[in-house]
Amino acid sequence: MSKKPIIVFEGIEGSGKSYHIKKVSSFLDKNKIKYIQIREPGGSLNSEKIRRLILNKKSNFNIHTDLLLYLAARSENINLIKKFYKKKIILIDRFVDSTIAYQHYGMGVDLKIINRINRFLLKKIKVDFTFLNVVNKKNLFQRLKKRKSLNRYDQFHMNFYNKVQKGFLKLAKLNKKSYKIIDSNLDIKKNEDLIINQLKKLIR
Ligand code: TMP
Repeated sequence: MSKKPIIVFEGIEGSGKSYHIKKVSSFLDKNKIKYIQIREPGGSLNSEKIRRLILNKKSNFNIHTDLLLYLAARSENINLIKKFYKKKIILIDRFVDSTIAYQHYGMGVDLKIINRINRFLLKKIKVDFTFLNVVNKKNLFQRLKKRKSLNRYDQFHMNFYNKVQKGFLKLAKLNKKSYKIIDSNLDIKKNEDLIINQLKKLIR
C-alpha cells in the first residue's frame, strides 16, 4: 500500500464521521505530516457549487438527476485527487461507496451504471482504506434531532438511513482488509485511538 494513501471516511448522518476526520487532520497537523482533505459532494470550487444545488432543501431532483449530480461533483474533484495521488495523503469525507450506499442501496438506482461511471471517472485511482462509522437507530434519531440546519439529505425517513447503512456494511464485508468499522455507539475516545493507530500503520 502507498505510504501516501487515499483514506475515506464513510457513514450515514450522525455516525460521527466528520468528528473523526477532524481528529485525524489535527493529528496530521500536529505531526507536520502533509495531506489534503476534501469532502464529497464538494471539496473543490465547482464541486461546492454542485453541492449547494443537490442539498438545497428547495431542490427536488429525481434519483437519476441526484446520481448524475453527485458524479458531476466527483468529476470536478478528480483533477485535484490526481494532482496529489501518491504524493500526499488524501483524506476524503465520503467517496464512491457513498454513491453505492445512498443511490443504489438507499434509492434503488442500478448498480452497474454507478460502477461504470465511477470507473470512468477514477481510472487508476484507488482508495487504500475506509473507516466506516456506524450508528444504531436510537442514536441516529437523537443526533438528527439535535442538528440545527438540516439539508435535503438529512430529512429522509429512518428506514432509508437503515437501508443505506446496511449497504455500507455489505461493502465493508466485501472489502474486509481495507475497511475498518467504527461503532459510534461505543466510547468516542476509544474510537479515536483506534483510528489514529490504524492511520499510523497506514502511513508509516
Ligand atoms: P454530508 O452530510 O456528509 O456532507 O453529505 C451530504 C449528503 O450527500 C449525505 O446525505 C450523503 C449524500 N451523498 C450521496 O447521496 N451520494 C454520494 O455519492 C455522496 C458523496 C453523498
